[in-house]
Amino acid sequence: MNASELTRVAGAMVAKGKGILAADESSGTIKKRFDSIKLESTEEHRRTYREMLFTAPAAAESVSGVIFYDETLRQKTQDGTPFPQYLARQGIIPGIKVDLGAKPLAAYPGETVTEGLDGLRERLVEYRGLGARFAKWRAVIDIAPGIPSAFAIEANAHALARYAALCQENDIVPIVEPEVLMDGDHSLERCEEVTDRVLERVFHELCAARVLLEGIVLKPNMVISGKKAANRAGPQAVAEATVRTLKRHVPPAVPGIAFLSGGQSPQEATLHLSLMNRLGPLPWALTFSYGRALQDTALKAWGGSGANFSAGQKEFAKRARLNGLATTGRYSAEMESQAA
Ligand code: 13P
Repeated sequence: MNASELTRVAGAMVAKGKGILAADESSGTIKKRFDSIKLESTEEHRRTYREMLFTAPAAAESVSGVIFYDETLRQKTQDGTPFPQYLARQGIIPGIKVDLGAKPLAAYPGETVTEGLDGLRERLVEYRGLGARFAKWRAVIDIAPGIPSAFAIEANAHALARYAALCQENDIVPIVEPEVLMDGDHSLERCEEVTDRVLERVFHELCAARVLLEGIVLKPNMVISGKKAANRAGPQAVAEATVRTLKRHVPPAVPGIAFLSGGQSPQEATLHLSLMNRLGPLPWALTFSYGRALQDTALKAWGGSGANFSAGQKEFAKRARLNGLATTGRYSAEMESQAA
């Protein structure tokens, strides 16, 4: 393990003014996204869509890294440059999703455990050869009556820690993603209570697994009301509850926290991040690692049509720029209506 390289890469992933594009949708998930614009999910359509995002002018100013899916890591730009090499030349760090998805947890109806540890060491060696310098593993914790169980939290935290240690063994920075879902009608307080329990177990397991905290990036949910809750908490309450919860559990040795958007609207996700960054001083960088909140408007503007390629790029560059501003608390909602 090369501790200084891990620390350097983790620091670059959360550099001020920048964040991460999660473009690691599995084939099943990207099909759902393409269904929404009535586009068939062929390999060439997936390649073209990712090329639109990766080659968007000015995106590199606000994007530190991109998370790929296996297929995309092996694809090329139209002029034949492998995507990871293309991005590395722009100063953007390539990363790879390595988990194999959340699978039903036996004997625990309604709960899942993320799989993918078997053979992971060998896959990491190959991915590093293809240019990946960081990886991602997503654990999924749902909130429902009687759920999550302590056992499901423990199983997921344990798997995250074993994944993180294997990544570092291979000089790959692990993004540690324990996602408490915002589906359902639970309150912000309930999300805070569950996120508390999850982060407590995750850091316990990371330490037991001897993971170098300076060489990870945490990717958590924000502490937020469920999507179907009757009286959803406002943006300031979300920002305060999220920072409060993170301060309880995330040691200052961790260089940065890059949030997932988890179904928030693009504007909401940007506003929450900006408000949190105004609550400083904070012991870690707070940034974004958004999928939907960075891509949704770009996907719609493109709509699968070559004629709208640059319109899609403009939308993506706009969201990247606004989220970049949010990493220093300088975003305001009025900026949404200003020109891209
Ligand atoms: P969302 O921002 O769409 O939640 O995706 C981020 C991600 O990578 C989930 O694993």
